[in-house]
Order: sequence, then C-alpha cells, then structure tokens
Amino acid sequence: MTETPTNDFTIPQNWSRYTAAEHAVWDTLFARQVAMLPSRASDAFLRGVDVLRLSKPGIPDFVELSERLMAATGWRLVAVPGLVPDAVFFDHLANRTFVAGNFIRRADQLDYLEEPDVFHDVFGHVPMLADPVFADYMAAYGRGGQRAGSLGALKRLARLYWYTVEFGLIEEAGALRIYGSGIVSSRGESIFALDDPSPNRIGFDLKRVMQTEYRIDDYQQSYFVIPSFDELLRLTVETDFAPLYAALEGEADLTPADLTANDRIITRGTQAYAT
Ligand code: PHE
Ligand code: FE
Repeated sequence: MTETPTNDFTIPQNWSRYTAAEHAVWDTLFARQVAMLPSRASDAFLRGVDVLRLSKPGIPDFVELSERLMAATGWRLVAVPGLVPDAVFFDHLANRTFVAGNFIRRADQLDYLEEPDVFHDVFGHVPMLADPVFADYMAAYGRGGQRAGSLGALKRLARLYWYTVEFGLIEEAGALRIYGSGIVSSRGESIFALDDPSPNRIGFDLKRVMQTEYRIDDYQQSYFVIPSFDELLRLTVETDFAPLYAALEGEADLTPADLTANDRIITRGTQAYAT
C-alpha cells in the first residue's frame, strides 16, 4: 500500500443536500437500466446491484453504500468534485478507494453528458467493485498506474482501463455480456455494444488494447471481449508491463476501428454507425 497524498481531493458527499428532483433523476436512470440489464449485463454486475441493495430509491448515501462494499470486498467510496489528477486517482485505487462525482446530471441530460456524474460513477462502477476478483483487478490497476506514471506510459495504461473497466465485454455461457461502466450506465450503448452490426468485437489481447486509440465523444468502434474476470486479473498481474511499454514505443498506434491479422475477431463491424 502507498500513502494517500495529503490533498486527496475528497469532499463530503453532502447527501442531505440533494433535492427531490435530483433523487428523481437517479430513480429514472436506475429504472431504465435495470429493466434492460438482466439479459445483457455480466452476472457479476447483476449480483453487485443486489448485494449492495442499489434498488433502494434515491441517490445512494456513500457512507451507507461504503459499509456494504467494505463488507463485500474491502472497498469504499468517497466523493470528489469531478475528475482528479491521475496520480491521485491511482493512489486511491491502490488503497481500495473509489472516487465518485457527487453531482447528478439534469433531467434534460439523461442520455448524454461529458463529465462522469454520480449515476455513471456509482451505478456504472460500484456493482463490479462488489465482485472479489474485479475488486482485486481495480486495486492492481491502481498500483500499475503508479508504475506506469514513472515509466512514462500513462497513455497505454489508460487504454487498458478504457477497454476493460469502462467499455469491456465478457463472454459468459457462450454469449457476450457487458460489464464496462460506460456501457451499463448508458441506455443507448447497452444495446449498441451487444446488438448493433457497426462495431468490431475482438478477443482481448493486452498489447493490442494498449496500442489502440479510443473515442470519448460517441459509442465505441471496437469492443474487446475477455474470457473471464479471473483471466483478466491473472494476465494483468502476472505480466510485467515494462517490456510491453518499451515495445510499443517502436510501433504505430491503431485507430479505434482498425483490425489486424492477429485479432480474434468475434464480430467484424460494418462501422456503418461511425461513418
Ligand atoms: N502488471 C502490471 C505492471 O507490470 C501492473 C498492472 C496490474 C496493471 C493489473 C494493470 C492491471 O505494470
Ligand atoms: Fe467511469
């Protein structure tokens, strides 16, 4: 474990200050997503929603939610005003602390907003943190981030986060399911990621993912599919990333839609949506 910096950017959630309208936005978003997710989200995600009793109405109180999360996997949840510097984020993860925005989007922004709000951060991320294997992956990622910082490879490691934690797919019982927080918290992308003919769906490969650019302005053009969370954890913990970072220095990046000869292609996307 590493020291959390003195300025750790955390603020009180101020749960009592949420208005009835703000709680109603949460309830609307929650009802929309849970209606759609049973056949689409990974079992681990659905179990997390249950274990954490996220169906309780209103924006969750982080203190109460942290107690449940702590009991499940030793993680806790703290509020921050918005995005925090990379080093601060990694230190929190390495210490099994997830930082979440405490504000909620307005009722006219249900489908799109640029900065992660409490619905994305809590509904999207926290259920997976109740899974023991994924919880260990996130903490290992935090330690990997501290190391990547010192190796000048943050861009590479950020891509791993993006294509797993934020937009990952998993193969479960012979079918694709979603577990990435950016997908499970989005009505449109929960359908698009699994059913639309436009995006590529490619077997997960560590180096390949760290070589691939991503887009932050619209649905992804490629998704990467892991075989299991155990395998994701094993692979990332047992691989020394330093030689991968070094090798990638000499290779060109891939664009979000590129396919390569080595890819295990599950769906070859038409890219019709993107073009
Ligand atoms: N094994 C990685 C390294 O050598 C650390 C890491 C673990 C990164 C898990 C991400 C996830 O840097
Ligand atoms: Fe996120």
